[in-house]
Amino acid sequence: MPMRILISGAGIAGSTAAWFLAKTGAHITVVEKAPSLLPHGQNVDIKGCTLKVVRKMGLMEEYLRHGTTEKGTQFMDPNGRPYASFPVESVSMTSEYEILRGDLAQILYEATKGYPNITYLFDTTISEVTSNGDDSVEVRLSNGEIQKSDILIAADGQWSKVRKRCFRPEDVSTVDKGMYGVYYTIPRLPSDESWWSIYQALGSRIVSLRPDPHGTMRALLTIMPCNDSQKTAWQAASKSDRQTQEDLLRRDFADAGWQAQRLLDSISEAPDFYFQDVQQIKMSKWSSSRIICLGDTAYAPTPLTGMGTSLAITGAYLLAGELSKLGDDEHPAKAFEAYENMFRPYVESAQQIPFFVPAIAHPETAWKRWLFGAVMGTLAKIFTVPWLARAFKDYEDNEDDFALPEYSIFEEGGSK
Ligand SMILES: Cc1cc2nc3c(=O)[nH]c(=O)nc-3n(C[C@H](O)[C@H](O)[C@H](O)COP(=O)(O)OP(=O)(O)OC[C@H]3O[C@@H](n4cnc5c(N)ncnc54)[C@H](O)[C@@H]3O)c2cc1C
Ligand SMILES: *[C@@H]1O[C@H](CO)[C@@H](O)[C@H](O)[C@H]1NC(C)=O
Ligand SMILES: *[C@@H]1O[C@H](CO)[C@@H](O)[C@H](O)[C@H]1NC(C)=O
Repeated sequence: MPMRILISGAGIAGSTAAWFLAKTGAHITVVEKAPSLLPHGQNVDIKGCTLKVVRKMGLMEEYLRHGTTEKGTQFMDPNGRPYASFPVESVSMTSEYEILRGDLAQILYEATKGYPNITYLFDTTISEVTSNGDDSVEVRLSNGEIQKSDILIAADGQWSKVRKRCFRPEDVSTVDKGMYGVYYTIPRLPSDESWWSIYQALGSRIVSLRPDPHGTMRALLTIMPCNDSQKTAWQAASKSDRQTQEDLLRRDFADAGWQAQRLLDSISEAPDFYFQDVQQIKMSKWSSSRIICLGDTAYAPTPLTGMGTSLAITGAYLLAGELSKLGDDEHPAKAFEAYENMFRPYVESAQQIPFFVPAIAHPETAWKRWLFGAVMGTLAKIFTVPWLARAFKDYEDNEDDFALPEYSIFEEGGSK
């Protein structure tokens, strides 16, 4: 009998898992809270071994077609002039695989939605997990339906409801990075550049703008609140509604300088306002009997690492691969454990962020900003030396950063 698999969340992890699991002959249902696929989210990229996984899916050409066309990253001075530039072909925060999260989610969904053995249910969530036993996991969906499956994959993101219901609070920790980010789309002006322009305002604030491939610009504002009253305000806003979040942004970014006012002026028209509390998720164990957490649900690394998408895609491949090796009467816990043992060390190293990283990028005072500028200016010059840039890039693009196992079931007809 084919395995019945229920996936919560049609994000990057959920759709990738569905793609690979369909090849194993499983019957898959994906429930997604949003009424249709969310086009939201800014730049993400893929790195290292994940490039191989996307090639195995035959989706690399499609992926590259949706690149954001960003020419590189530049740091702006208070007068709006770039003082350090890192073009994409040197060592840059702009990667060659830059893509919008919403575009990537769409590519993965399009690649799976026609499968006869995958069913997507939008506007649907899991209301209750009624049993997670020896021979099945049973849930009640928000549409009232009872679903019995062999496996439940929680891929509903950083704030997963399934994780919250089915795992003990002491087995899940959130690591607060003391930073908040807000992303949204704004109209493009003729003067806008095809670079990621970053302006470090004083008071630990960053204002930045990036081009997208849809003729608009993506605004990104980040802040590390400086004192207790500011911290309390941002913490409260993260649990509040959009209006409260916009009001706080207007209050705390009004005097930031550079293009802050323009960004604030367009905020209430933005179709895709997204407020993020920069926190990592760490679990002592990713599974419990027939339920397994995947992607941000299990190990959100934060955008500071640039690894969220890679971990979601490679994790989905490895999980599906280990499940494909299960014998007919074997419990999925065996595959869950094999997957976790293999992948956990890579995840843990991806989650390491030196404690000073967010703070260095968010200077509080003028002299710290000067220091940052001096270092960046020097680096920008150093990386115009071609052989040095090449050496760093080879290190960054190392596709063998993880020894990706091959699973026979995925090897035919996939590569491109
Ligand atoms: C709207 C949005 C915007 C984002 N923007 C950025 C960004 O700009 N930069 C960045 O680095 N990362 C961003 N991320 C996070 C990034 O997508 C992840 O770090 C990474 O790609 C791992 O993906 P994931 O599939 O584990 O989680 P996600 O991509 O977060 O996907 C989770 C999915 O589950 C759905 N979901 C949530 N709750 C439920 C529920 N109760 N039941 C069913 N489905 C549910 C969500 O709608 C979403 O489709 C964003 C995520 C989202 C959801
Ligand atoms: C599931 O769908 C895919 C794509 O159409 C197909 O290759 C696979 O054989 C199907 N599996 C089953 C069990 O129907
Ligand atoms: C906290 O910091 C903010 C922003 O710099 C400032 O406006 C506010 O006055 C400070 N509050 C206290 C209590 O120091």
